[in-house]
Amino acid sequence: MNDRIKDLLQKNPSDEIVTAEGWVRTKRDSKNVCFLELNDGSCLKGLQIVIDKAALNNNNLLSKITTGSSIVAHGPIVKSAGGNQAVEMQSSDLTILGEAGNEYPLQKKRHSIEYLREIGHLRARTNLIGAVMRVRNTLAFGVHEFFQQNGFVYVNTPLISTSDCEGAGEMFQVTTLDLNNVPKTEDGGVDYSKDFFGKMANLTVSGQLEGETYAMALKNIYTFGPTFRAENSNTKRHLAEFWMIEPEMAFCDLQLDMEIAEDFLKFLFKKVLNECKEDMEFFSKFVEKGVKETLELVVNTPFAHMTYTEAIDVLTKNNDNFEYPVEWGSDLQTEHERYLTEVYCKSPVIVTDYPKEIKAFYMKLNEDKKTVRGMDVLVPRLGEIIGGSERESDLETLKARMKELDLNEEDYWWYLDLRRFGTVAHAGFGLGFERIVQYVTGVQNIRDVIPYPRTVGNAEF
Ligand code: 4AD
Ligand code: MG
Repeated sequence: MNDRIKDLLQKNPSDEIVTAEGWVRTKRDSKNVCFLELNDGSCLKGLQIVIDKAALNNNNLLSKITTGSSIVAHGPIVKSAGGNQAVEMQSSDLTILGEAGNEYPLQKKRHSIEYLREIGHLRARTNLIGAVMRVRNTLAFGVHEFFQQNGFVYVNTPLISTSDCEGAGEMFQVTTLDLNNVPKTEDGGVDYSKDFFGKMANLTVSGQLEGETYAMALKNIYTFGPTFRAENSNTKRHLAEFWMIEPEMAFCDLQLDMEIAEDFLKFLFKKVLNECKEDMEFFSKFVEKGVKETLELVVNTPFAHMTYTEAIDVLTKNNDNFEYPVEWGSDLQTEHERYLTEVYCKSPVIVTDYPKEIKAFYMKLNEDKKTVRGMDVLVPRLGEIIGGSERESDLETLKARMKELDLNEEDYWWYLDLRRFGTVAHAGFGLGFERIVQYVTGVQNIRDVIPYPRTVGNAEF
């Protein structure tokens, strides 16, 4: 494997000639020496290359090196004379691989985050997006680590689906029909029997229903894949395409579900604090003041718990200060969620037992017949980060719920079979992957924690 700059920065000074490859971030020229800062994305810091101009046989070369050009340099790692770094490379043997000229859009100045979005193909070369992507990578690996250590089986659920898990009708349709000449049935509707799958199909909004079928065989499973929602919400925490992690556990009730969710989040926070120290310092200093310290605190504090009814009691007392006042039965908006976690609990809080009217059909009905065994984990700055529930495991109750919601039983025949054949209490939850990247980095807008955000009106790149 070729050395990364991260590895070179860890080397002790010696005469050994090593190779550094990367993109030039800055160039400082003086009479006798030229300093380059070389970055390859392996860590936040760059490697300083010190070039003795007299020793360089091609002085023309230096004039061609500008911010953004790619170079390869050979030389020894020496103790740095400057105070900003422990070691640097002394080189008189370097080659430009690709020039960048003066048009390179990332010249050495601070760029607005909005501008960086316009150059999505280059923004990973900035400190901010580089750090976000390294943390995102650590979190993704951590997701698998947590579940694998605990004996969960990784299951890949389909991306093309013919059922609407969340029942919200916010789905992107998948079709090969000619939109200029749609085949019609006798009563004037679209004739989906002529479509590719012989029925209407969509991109999945959640892998949960299929995930449940595998939990009913393998006990504990998890999914980790792309999810699509045609929600017309232009907010800082919604994407039309996002990644979701959905564990599903058989022989599990809401209580255990919540414990697993809390352990899982804390595992991921700890992992990032331990393994992304340099990047977390950066976020804490430049992105969200103190985000690292907050995370350390959260790792050591038990999450708060309250029922939806208790939450409404708290919120109605503050109704004057909300844009949307609440009453029992209202769906909670971000402002309410943030109030509960930031002001009232001052910690992450798990809200349970929501009115059935505002939650999906599959959630287990409580004895009061009004509320369901659902839970949302709310965190400061974001609001909802996890949504989950114990599932309705009783066939008749589930069928009755579907009827209330006008869901067609035949469409869910296979899902209902789980309640016919060896039904057990089971539960699970969904963590929005970009939401957790947002939370740990403190990045305000979800568009900046995924390489190419898809949102209403935007699918550039
Ligand atoms: O609360 P949601 O809709 O729950 C489900 O999809 C369940 N099927 C999960 C389960 O029980 N297996 O979504 C789960 C999480 C949310 O808490 C949020 O973190 C994230 O997915 N999420 C989004 N993230 C980004 N953009 C969007 N449009 C999102 N919608 C949901
Ligand atoms: Mg939800």
